[in-house]
Amino acid sequence: MPDYPVRMGHLSTEYTGFPADVIPLQYQALLLTDERRMQAFADAIAQAVQPGMRVLDLGAGTGVLSYFAARAGGVVTAIECEPRVFATARSALRAATGDTVRILHADARDYLPDEPIDLVLCEMLHVGLLRERQVEVIGAFKRRYLHHMGGPLPRFLPEATVQAVQPVEQDFTYMGYTVPAPVFQLPESRQPRTVEAAPPQVFQQFFYSSPLPSRCGADLVFVAERPAVVNAVRLITKNLLTLTYDPAGSVDWTMNYLVVPVNEPVEVLPGDEVRVRFDYAPGDEIPVLTDGLRISVPAHAH
Ligand SMILES: C[S@@+](CC[C@H](N)C(=O)[O-])C[C@H]1O[C@@H](n2cnc3c(N)ncnc32)[C@H](O)[C@@H]1O
Repeated sequence: MPDYPVRMGHLSTEYTGFPADVIPLQYQALLLTDERRMQAFADAIAQAVQPGMRVLDLGAGTGVLSYFAARAGGVVTAIECEPRVFATARSALRAATGDTVRILHADARDYLPDEPIDLVLCEMLHVGLLRERQVEVIGAFKRRYLHHMGGPLPRFLPEATVQAVQPVEQDFTYMGYTVPAPVFQLPESRQPRTVEAAPPQVFQQFFYSSPLPSRCGADLVFVAERPAVVNAVRLITKNLLTLTYDPAGSVDWTMNYLVVPVNEPVEVLPGDEVRVRFDYAPGDEIPVLTDGLRISVPAHAH
């Protein structure tokens, strides 16, 4: 596994000249080398796509998900808005699949297919549903599709997203120098800099085929399991790429965790309650989360 935090390349407009949700070509390899992500999508797409299915890939990037879908026999249309990424995807897809995949240089927010679709692939995801436009793009797609084609909606992959949060004590000191800045963590790695004050709690879960959330918010009380100075919270975002009902199962992709500092740390002992509150819109930048993040010890706990 790579030991760097995959997706740290999502630098904001000020640094790259690109809007935050556009991933320029130089950062696409971070996505391609994220083996957990790639394997989960390869498995889910192999499971969901049957030969002849009409598949739409919104925010196709280098086209890798379209490639997986074409390999499974899907008739694929891919949409990418960033010109260099689009050009690279077009030649990579041509090399891998001949003329099987149609790729269009377009904005996924306005694109309307000219015929019904069976499956929509959309990986415009960031931990916390921050920064990227997954919810906005799928919401706009659903409205346009229902208006122009009527129902039923296609299946979506991912099918659902589940988000959780937990209070933590994070060591933000590096060689004696303290910088409380957001940290990304690989879920499968040991995290010696993080003390989990309490286990995670789910604050949001939804299906992409159901009404989509307009906010990502939490107001949760945790019971501390160990002494800690809670100076951060950890966000956990798990995407259920495909769900099966008989037998019950899913192909999941848990994104890299995001640990964000709080402005006013609180000290807790085992058994103490600690309240975590935040509220932001899907697609907001990380500072919108951190600016509105509040940690407190409920008054009755004193
Ligand atoms: C996180 S990347 C994932 C790329 C690809 N789906 C994959 O899984 O490797 C999201 C992609 O969506 C593209 N994108 C962002 N906003 C878009 C929009 N409005 N229309 C089309 N593509 C968009 C970005 O440029 C980026 O290539």
